[in-house]
Amino acid sequence: MELTINGKVHQVDLDDDTPLLWALRDELKMTGTKFGCGAGLCGACTIHINGNPARACLTPIAAAKGARITTIEGLSDAGDHPLQQAWVKHNVPQCGYCQSGQLMSAAALLAANPQPSEKEIDSAMSGNICRCGTYPRIKAAIKDAVQFYEGGNSND
Ligand code: FES
Ligand code: FES
Repeated sequence: MELTINGKVHQVDLDDDTPLLWALRDELKMTGTKFGCGAGLCGACTIHINGNPARACLTPIAAAKGARITTIEGLSDAGDHPLQQAWVKHNVPQCGYCQSGQLMSAAALLAANPQPSEKEIDSAMSGNICRCGTYPRIKAAIKDAVQFYEGGNSND
């Protein structure tokens, strides 16, 4: 099956019901997307499918066939998406495990809504769990990124 990931077509020889997360990490060695719960509960595996946030652990590869898949590796060419810059500025990560998913959820939010309210940020980020409790820094970084986000500095 062909999967289009970060603008590149990849061939994977896996059953249709294989979770996309397995294809990304085990088959294609794109390990930026994390395995947390495997049950749609933590958000660590968040990617974009046609620009919308999705749980790679719950998405069978058959459902992603023909779609535009974006992972953290493809969020920006040089790691300079406004959110990535804000993440660095605010020293957001602690252990870092949840942060790819956090960034992908935040990026999908800003792509759809470049000027989100506090409530909209809370709502968009509510499915991403951080066991290290970096939530205040995540929110500060998103609010900072909003100031210079133009919606054009993304591969999505
Ligand atoms: S690993 Fe997919 S939501 Fe937790
Ligand atoms: S930074 Fe450790 S889980 Fe979020």
